[in-house]
This record gives sequence, C-alpha cells and structure tokens, in this order.
Amino acid sequence: MTDPAHLPPQDLTMAEAATELERLAAEIAAHDRAYHQHDAPLISDADYDALRRRNAAIEFRFPELIRGDSPSRRVGAPPVAQFGKVRHAVPMLSLENAFSDDDVRDFFDGVRNFIKELRDDPGQPIAVVAEPKIDGLSISLRYEDGAFVQGATRGDGSEGEDVTANLRTLKDLPLRLSPPCPSVVEVRGEVYMTRADFMALNERRAAEGEPVFANPRNAAAGSLRQLDPGITAKRPLRLFAYALGEVGEPPAASHWEFLGRLTGWGFHVNPEARRCADVDEALAFHHALQDSRPTLDYDIDGVVYKVDRFDWQQRLGQVARAPRWAVAHKFPAEQARTIVRAIEVQVGRTGALTPVAHLEPVTVGGVVVARATLHNEDEIRRKDIRVGDTVVVQRAGDVIPQVVAVIDDGARHARPPYEFPTICPVCGAHATRPEGEVIRRCTGGLTCPAQAVERLRHFAARDAFDIEGLGEKNVEFLFAKGWVKSPADIFRLGERYGPGANLERLSTQPGWGAASARKLFEAIDRRRVIPLDRLIFALGIRQVGQATARLLALHYGSAENWRRRMTEAADPASDAYAELTNINGIGPSVAQDIVAFFAEAHNQTALDDLVDQLAEIAPLEAPRTASPIAGKTVVFTGTLETMTRSEAKARAESLGAKVAGSVSRGTDWVVAGADSGSKAAKARDLGVAVLTEQEWLALIGG
Ligand code: IVH
Repeated sequence: MTDPAHLPPQDLTMAEAATELERLAAEIAAHDRAYHQHDAPLISDADYDALRRRNAAIEFRFPELIRGDSPSRRVGAPPVAQFGKVRHAVPMLSLENAFSDDDVRDFFDGVRNFIKELRDDPGQPIAVVAEPKIDGLSISLRYEDGAFVQGATRGDGSEGEDVTANLRTLKDLPLRLSPPCPSVVEVRGEVYMTRADFMALNERRAAEGEPVFANPRNAAAGSLRQLDPGITAKRPLRLFAYALGEVGEPPAASHWEFLGRLTGWGFHVNPEARRCADVDEALAFHHALQDSRPTLDYDIDGVVYKVDRFDWQQRLGQVARAPRWAVAHKFPAEQARTIVRAIEVQVGRTGALTPVAHLEPVTVGGVVVARATLHNEDEIRRKDIRVGDTVVVQRAGDVIPQVVAVIDDGARHARPPYEFPTICPVCGAHATRPEGEVIRRCTGGLTCPAQAVERLRHFAARDAFDIEGLGEKNVEFLFAKGWVKSPADIFRLGERYGPGANLERLSTQPGWGAASARKLFEAIDRRRVIPLDRLIFALGIRQVGQATARLLALHYGSAENWRRRMTEAADPASDAYAELTNINGIGPSVAQDIVAFFAEAHNQTALDDLVDQLAEIAPLEAPRTASPIAGKTVVFTGTLETMTRSEAKARAESLGAKVAGSVSRGTDWVVAGADSGSKAAKARDLGVAVLTEQEWLALIGG
C-alpha cells in the first residue's frame, strides 16, 4: 500500500485522510515547538507552509475529520457571543504575599511546624523551587490523551471562562503533548505579553486611532478575552507553564521534576526558575532577580517559592484560597512624585468614609495613576497631607495606589490643613466615629443613597451574584431612576411593567438599546439559581468576605438553616452562638457582625423579599462528600506520631470533618496519641469512640 503521506489530498480514502491529519497535526506541532521554543526551525518556512496547506486541503475534503488539535484551529475559529463557563475540577488558588525576608522565613517556619519530620529534625533544609512571578493572567489547560481539549481563565478560582478557541491560537501552547503523558492532565500557567510586543501593539493601535493598553498585563488580558479568536490570533501572546491542576497519575515526585516534564511535553517553562536547597538560597535568588528584573523582557512583580516535594505539598494543603506550600515574595513597590489636586471623600456600602486623593496623573511602574487612597482621617493628619502638596505615591501589584509621604516644598504651610468632614458628603447625615475606631461612618443607613448604591454594586459584583452588565455605572443609573433600590428589585426589573414593557422602557433610555437591555435581563435571570456561599457574600455583611461566606455555607448547608441559626445566635449564651464561634476561622468579632446583621428587621425583610425572587439557593458541595468522615466531629488529643496537630486538623477538615477542641456528646471520635489525658477519659465516660492514630489513619484511608 502507498504511504498516504505521498498521495494528493483528492486521492485519499477516509481512513487514509484520518491517518494523514493525525500525522500532520503531530508534525506541525513539532515544528511549532522547534521554532518557537528552541528558536531552531527544522524546515524552511516554505516547507512549513506546505504542511499547513496540505492539512487545510485534506480538511476541506473531509470536514468531518477535523481534529480537536488541528493546526488549522489555531486561527479563525468562529466568534462566540459570550464565553461559556468552566468549573475548575481543582480550584485555581491565589498566593499569600511576603513583603520581607522575615516574612519568607516565617513561611519556611510554618512549613516546618506543619510537617512532623521537619519539626523533629530542625537541621533538615526545606528545598523550594523559586520562579519569577509573571504579571499576566493565569489560565488552566486541560489535556485528554495528550490532546488539548479545554482552556479556561481563572475567574473566581472555582469557575472561569472557556477561552479554548482563543488559546488554540497561542503558538506557545502545545495542542498535543509529547508522550508520555497522563491520560488526563490540567496544566496551569500564565499568559503574558513581552514589553517589546506590548509597545509595538500600542504603537499600531495609536496609529489606527484605537485606545492603547495601560500595561502589558491589561493588553494580554484584553487580547485573550476576545470573542473573536481571529483577533486573539493577531496578538503576540505568550505562555509560561508553572503548575498542575487535576491529574490522573502524578507525573512527578517534585515540582522541579514536574517542570522538566512540562518542558518535555512541549511547554515553555520560565528559564529563570531555580531549585533552592534552603531559605537562604531562596532569598539570594530573590535579591539577584530583583537586580536583573529590568533586563527581562516581561513584567514580573516578585518571586514565587514552592515547596519542592509533591508529597509535602499535598500534606500541606491549603488555607481558604491559598496553598500552604507556596508564597509570593513581592518586590518593593514602585514610586513616583506628583501633586494632590483635590481630596474626595467616598462613602462605602457600610457607610465608611474613605478619603481619596485626586492626583496630577503620573506613571508609576508602567501604569498611569490619577487617584490614590488616603485610608482614613488619622492617616491624613499623621502625614499632614494638604491639597496642593507634592507627594510620593506608590503602587505594588494590583493594590490601590497609596500616598506614602509628603515632600516639603517650603510653601506647604501656607496651605490650609485638610479638614475631614463630620457629615456624610452624599446624604448629609452625621458621620460618627466610635471611640477606639479609625473609621468614620455615615449614620444615614438605609436612607443614604451612596450606601445603597455601593451595597447593590457589591451584590451584583463578580464574586457575588456576578450579574454581567450590572457594574457601577448601570447600578447608579437604575438606582437614580428609582427602578432598583434593593437586591430583590433587580430580579423584578424585567417583569414589573408587564411582559416586554420594561424591556422597551429600558431600551429607550440614553446609553441603552434593545440588545443591551435584553442581555441584562437574561443575565439577571441566569442568577435566579445561586450557590449559598455567593448569596451570603453578596449580602455585604461586615467582615464576611468570600472565605467566611464559604465556611458558613459549608457549615449550615441551607439558607433556611443558616438564617434560623443566625437569628437564634442573637443570644450570646445560646448554643447557636457557640456553634457559630466554634467554626474554625470565625472569631467573636465576625460572629457579632453577622448576628447584628440579622438583628435588623429590615435586613430580614429584604432577605425574605430576595429569596422570593430566587428559584434555587444551591447548597455548597463539601470538598469531599464521599469521605467517611464528612460532617463528623473529631477531637485530637495527646502527641501524634506521624503528623503534627496542625496537619491532623487540616487533613480532617479537608475531608469535610469538623475539628473541635473539647469532647462532648456531639463528638464522633476522639483520636488519642501518646500521653493523652483527660479528654480520652472523658470520651470513654460519654461513650464516644476513642481511636488510636493507626485506626484513625485507616479510617481516613492512609
Ligand atoms: S503558582 C497554587 N507560579 O500569581 C499556586 N503563580 O497570586 C498557583 N503567577 O493566580 C499559582 N507567576 O496568576 C504561580 N510562577 C508562578 C506565577 C504565578 C505568576 C500568578 C498567577 C496566580 C497568582 C497568585
């Protein structure tokens, strides 16, 4: 039989065509790698183009054979109306920050105190891999049987956007992994743009009269989140791979080894990455990289240290949304001088007055800064910031720019000191500041429009109800019209005036059209089913952030149960209050804010009203419901042999159990290590099962 590789496309049978397309996909991918990764093309451009043309010709004749990893799909996939959502099988975490060498040593100490072998052997060094922290956007890439099948943005960490078609256009992205590779593997990495490419892109855009991007990061994000992959294909996006998501069989025993595998599969791994034997080597790497930072062709904002051993990483697990086995050591903030033009006081959703400086625009670390936070009135007084002053501003990463110091220009004492307002600049109510607090708050409560707008904005924001099209501007507009005053009003917006009527009403408003109005109503309707943790976070209860909302949702299971228990917790002597403060991660101060929220009748009414509008409040799935200890309560006592108390606790919690400090009738098991005293005795008295460490390990599966 003739080798199909020598036959013209029109002479191929279907089976031969399939074989040929497979061969071409692999061959073209190999050439892409040789060219882009190793800067060493194996064939001429003309020969390479001929391969692609042959691929296209065969696909033209056999469209049903077009492969998921076809080279032709790197460009020109049809635009989509909106990105689909992708749930990350393994959440995409963020990183804790370290700002000083001491912070980094604390991180290493934390690891040592968690892993028993390390704590018992203080001389044993902790090896890490140090990598530049790329200032781009993180993505997750899923491969099945070596073929790229799906790519997603980080989103909120649990759910991102499906940008598969766009990612296919990235030359750095292998559409097919060089074998051997696991049957399923998710590779995580950073999409970024080099400074040179960024400047060239902006020059081109400026010449064409298009708005320029503020920095390479924004340019990369804007280019990846294009609905038309054809546009993404024209943008010079790059990719560094650096982490693992879901995987069938672990592909390595250490992160360093894993980076080698990534390279072998065809990814670009940052060439600066180093294995450091201990904390001193890690810090030396940081200092050296800080010096060579200006010579790199892409933006970095620090160094990420990752505990090298995978088995330790796994045992260390995560706290809230960040791993215990990694930390980001940031570079010092970048600074610049500018002039304070005005000081504006903003009112937040809890009524907090926050002063903001309006600045003469200045470039700080590649970004134009025109506003900076002044934190609170004490900070303004302490630094004695006056309108007209020359100040030093700084920004670090994505944090809000800050004014760090005032430059004495000799004339500043002629300018009047700044007087912080004692009435709300929006509603005119008194703004008071309780003894011992730094924040002054508007007492206007429900009647203050600024607070209402901020609460609604928070409610609709990405990490809360995530209602697309309901950002700051539109919330302000709908509020000013009197159409949306409470969260429930959002859900009544589309129907209140009879079918279609409201659509028309909104679509005739300035800045709105039929399409944007319909899109908004659809986005709102999609959120009538909402996960419990998002609902809790959206309420904007003081001190209840995403992590706390998750804890509450997991613990109480349903919205009704949560509300009932929070209302009962009004009495600090109640068991409901004790239960709330017993949740690991919820202290008395947070508990009091939650209880105070439910003590307000208007909050209960607004919540009833909202719940009436929703179709379903979905319980949050416990991380591992299949585990035999999910929902059970366990108490550890005595000295454990194989792990520290912190590890035992973290492990039990990650399997869905609650860890309590004292034994009661509600305890399911007491795990007794060596020298366990009264707790084991009490357990026996109460008839609670007492397990040895070995029995416990057997129960949780090793
Ligand atoms: S590892 C579980 N490595 O930093 C750890 N992240 O603050 C996952 N980033 O969302 C991240 N360079 O976008 C890791 N070499 C690197 C990184 C890196 C940049 C970003 C990434 C992540 C963020 C966390």
